[in-house]
Amino acid sequence: MKGIVLAGGSGTRLYPLTHAVSKHLLPVYNKPMIYYPLSVLMLGGIKEILVISTPSHVGLFRGLLGDGSQLGLSIEYAEQSRANGIAEAFVIGEKFIGDDSVALILGDNIFHGPGLSGLLSDQCENVDGCVLFGYAVKDPERYGVGETDGRGELVSLEEKPVRPRSNLAITGLYLYDNGVVDIAREVRPSARGELEITDVNRVYLRQGRAKMVDLGRGFAWLDTGTHDSLLQAGQYIQVLEERQGVRIACLEEIAFRMGFIDSAACYELGGRLGKTDYGAYLMAIASADH
Ligand code: G1P
Repeated sequence: MKGIVLAGGSGTRLYPLTHAVSKHLLPVYNKPMIYYPLSVLMLGGIKEILVISTPSHVGLFRGLLGDGSQLGLSIEYAEQSRANGIAEAFVIGEKFIGDDSVALILGDNIFHGPGLSGLLSDQCENVDGCVLFGYAVKDPERYGVGETDGRGELVSLEEKPVRPRSNLAITGLYLYDNGVVDIAREVRPSARGELEITDVNRVYLRQGRAKMVDLGRGFAWLDTGTHDSLLQAGQYIQVLEERQGVRIACLEEIAFRMGFIDSAACYELGGRLGKTDYGAYLMAIASADH
């Protein structure tokens, strides 16, 4: 399975923070925001990743992540020239996807919870249709909303409905079979002129091939869309990291624990971070494994 991180858009809701900087590079406590969605793909065992951003920002991501080889990954880059919608990622990424299945994650979505790696690697195997991840929120009208029947089967999907039929938001992590490229080519732009991901998902729903996994209340799916929620997301990460002494979405650690790089490489990456706590943490976990 291939992975796409969509890190485009102009981040207008976070102005002036995002006047000159991509939203997805803003700090969430001690890491750039994109580390969090990238870590999710890595935890699912995905090593071939396409980062899509705007023409003016794509070079910044390349500067941050390079070709990914230091993490045992292969990272490519592509541009989305206008805000044409999330589903355009599959049109832009068509060649990259080839005849594989694909996971798409939005560059501002932060997931944290028990068993994420196991859940994802199970779901990523043999995707037939699409797999969506639902999360109960108090303001579902801000999101894509999924409605299920008594047996937990998905029965409707709506994008930012005025009167939501449930409180289950569809999070920004989506798994698809290869058919998604053709479907994304066929959907028509919505009233706001975008290729909506919810319209792609509805095609799968009509075919009876859309599944929704409820992440459950033990999970955290954090918002970074406003100044307050961005700060709160950083505080959430800070509280857990301080309390437990472990790091969340530490790409180098995940690469090491997933077996993408060995302990010597992890140690070296730590050393490159100089005298930071982050660097010391990497060197300590690499040494502990010797
Ligand atoms: C997008 C999707 C929406 C989804 C959300 C998750 O909304 O259109 O269905 O629930 O991402 O973050 P946007 O954030 O682009 O308004």
